[in-house]
Amino acid sequence: MSTHFETIVDGLADQGYAVVDNFLSTQEVDSILDLEEFKSSHLHFKKAGIGKQHNKQINETIRGDYIQWIDKKNCAKPLLIYLDRLERLIQHLNQNLFLSLKDYEVHMTAYPAGSFYKRHIDQFKSNDHRKLSIICYLNSEWKDAEGGQLRMHTAGGVKDVSPTAGRVVCFRSDLIEHEVLPATRQRLSLTGWLLDQLTELKHL
Ligand code: OGA
Ligand code: MN
Repeated sequence: MSTHFETIVDGLADQGYAVVDNFLSTQEVDSILDLEEFKSSHLHFKKAGIGKQHNKQINETIRGDYIQWIDKKNCAKPLLIYLDRLERLIQHLNQNLFLSLKDYEVHMTAYPAGSFYKRHIDQFKSNDHRKLSIICYLNSEWKDAEGGQLRMHTAGGVKDVSPTAGRVVCFRSDLIEHEVLPATRQRLSLTGWLLDQLTELKHL
C-alpha cells in the first residue's frame, strides 16, 4: 500500500492528479458490492444535487448519478476498510506534501446507464474545504468501449480514465476540471473528498 501512497504523492506534486490500480483488491471490491446498499442501490440511493444546502438543486442535464453518504461511525466492515485506508493516505499526504488535511467525506455512487456528469470543478465557490477529490471505482471487467470514463482536463491535455474495479483517481479539487462520460452500463464508485476542516454531519 505504501507504494500506492507514493504514486499518489508523486502524481499530485507533478501533475495535480494520480491514477492507481489495485488500491482495493478484487476481494475488497467484491465485499463492498455484496453490501445491501449496493445490491439494491436503486432503493437506497437518492438523486444527487448540484450546489450546497439551500442552493442545492436537481438538474439532470448536469448530473444523473444517485448517491448515499457513508456514515463513518456506523458503516459496514468492507467500507470501513476503505475509510481506514483513506485515513492513512491523509497522514501520508500531510507528511509528504505538507498539507493540513483533517477529515474526509465519501458517498456511494451509482450512475445508471446513459447518465453523465458535465464538465465541472469540485471545489464549492462558497466553501473551499475540499482540497483533493478521490474516487474508487467498483466495476469489474470494464471495457473502454463501454464509455463511462472520467475525463480530466489538465494542463498537459485531456486524460481519460476508465472506471475499472479497484482503481483510484485522486486530483486537486480546486484545479482540475473534469466530467463523467455516459456509459452503456451502470457505473458504481465511492466518491470522496479530503478536507482541511472537520465535517459537520450535514449530509446524513
Ligand atoms: C463527482 C465526479 C467523477 C467520477 O462526483 O464530482 O466528478 O469519475 N465524479 O465519478
Ligand atoms: Mn467532480
